[in-house]
Amino acid sequence: MKIEQKDIFKTYLDVYFLPNESINNHQIYILIDILRATSSIATLLHCGVEEVMVLEKVETVKELGPIGGYILAGEREALKIEGFDYGNSPVEFIKNADQLRKKSVMLTTTNGAKAIQKVNKHGDVIALSLLNLDAVIDFVMKKEYKDIGIICSGTNENVSLEDCFAAGIFVKKFLSNYTDEVEINDGAKIALKLANSKKNEVKNSTHALKLKQLGFKEDLDFCFEMNMFNVVPLAKKGSLVFKKAYLAEL
Ligand code: MLT
Repeated sequence: MKIEQKDIFKTYLDVYFLPNESINNHQIYILIDILRATSSIATLLHCGVEEVMVLEKVETVKELGPIGGYILAGEREALKIEGFDYGNSPVEFIKNADQLRKKSVMLTTTNGAKAIQKVNKHGDVIALSLLNLDAVIDFVMKKEYKDIGIICSGTNENVSLEDCFAAGIFVKKFLSNYTDEVEINDGAKIALKLANSKKNEVKNSTHALKLKQLGFKEDLDFCFEMNMFNVVPLAKKGSLVFKKAYLAEL
């Protein structure tokens, strides 16, 4: 629905299963790539990183990162990129929190970075994972956003179960906390059905199995933990840079 057709007394919540869907204008965008880009961003900020710049191309990170004094992190085919300081592993970040505190990180990932590039052109983006789900719900509710777009990153342009599951949990919690009228799109209705899935079923998604095969079981389990961090990573429109958002400053 076009923004001008919207009812100012209602709140709108739309879920998109892929960034390539036709995405409406929204007041705020919530991006999900729980395996593992948005889990990594939330973890890095929790570890005290000042900012996470997310870029699509490995070459750009290799070229610009060292000039700007950034720590380089990222993956291709889920594996750490040669010459980078870190992979795309929340568990690795937690283990090295002391080295990361107060630093800036440049991150490139296969799907999450592409989705962020796309969505951040439309507006401000919050990175959502299961690790920071309640913090994001709380922030979005306190900010009284009336028009929210939730975008799942998917995997190689295919829908991914774990992102849709996280979207469903977000929608379910949001609706149960909200007292005013909320209109949700079909994507949100489908996601809601997935919200009650068992974690063990979701952990059998294509990308989850790939991570397990590659030896990232610890990461997989960690990314399915709920509400470990009270952190809201926010990238202002067009910036591609996630920093901790605070209610007071916005
Ligand atoms: C991605 O953005 O494609 C993922 O984060 C891949 C991964 O699990 O590292």
